[in-house]
Amino acid sequence: MKKYFLATIKTIMLASLAIGLLNTTSFATIQAQESDSPVLNKIKADGKLVLGTSADFPPFEWHLLENGKDTIVGFDVDIAQAIADSLGVELVVEDMNFDSLVAAVKTGRVDMIMAGMNPTEERQKEVDFSDIYHETGFVALVPASKVDEYTEFEQLANLKIGVQKGTAQESFVTEAMTEAAITSMPKNDALIAAMMTNRLDAIIIDQIVAEQFASVNPNIAIANLKVPHEEDGTAIAIAKGNEAFLEEIQAVIAELEESGQLEELFIKNIDLMAGSVE
Ligand code: ARG
Repeated sequence: MKKYFLATIKTIMLASLAIGLLNTTSFATIQAQESDSPVLNKIKADGKLVLGTSADFPPFEWHLLENGKDTIVGFDVDIAQAIADSLGVELVVEDMNFDSLVAAVKTGRVDMIMAGMNPTEERQKEVDFSDIYHETGFVALVPASKVDEYTEFEQLANLKIGVQKGTAQESFVTEAMTEAAITSMPKNDALIAAMMTNRLDAIIIDQIVAEQFASVNPNIAIANLKVPHEEDGTAIAIAKGNEAFLEEIQAVIAELEESGQLEELFIKNIDLMAGSVE
């Protein structure tokens, strides 16, 4: 009887040792799943992906009243949602001024930036960028009543020019339009309002966005002239030192691109904006 008792104890001890080992193994597996990206680890731990954007830039991102509720929608928001879905987390959208986005992602206030942002050399020193997911160029938006007066970029040289603060357009006009009276404002809506009241003659802005603003506002139009700035693309920015996170992002973009969904989402948002009344 005593022998039997001892054997049982032995079995129990062996069993608990085995369980202990098992536990260590599964712990090790969990540890191994932690990536080398602090941002990605935080996103997974918090169960949310925080997107920083400047929601004044259709079709990339803008405010839309959906069933009486103010919602931030757009091409960038849809792509960010696909990234959040693939990570199995919730998407949280933070609207801020465009010129505070880079600092926000560097300090971890947001996890990534999608704001129709060009991966300029200057910004590449501060943050890491994904591949380009959309190509864009610059145009001049002018009052519709004056659109026929402009045929050449040089005509804008001495005028009152508006750009969004912190944008590639701001850097461009500062260098290329030294004779102009340049005004930079934090949000595009304010620039358009200023032009409507003759405080600005033209706004230099990304082409597709200008088309969207003009499509819902009959008082503004795109001048038939070429802004001498090379085409650029938009890319996602994240804090440096987050390779594993960047890889996740690239994988989602590649998949959306290959499946044709990227193009579909773009068109969906163009239609959504064009259909919404100001
Ligand atoms: N493409 C320009 C840039 O990268 C302007 C982007 C403005 N984006 C915005 N969401 N307002 O500087």
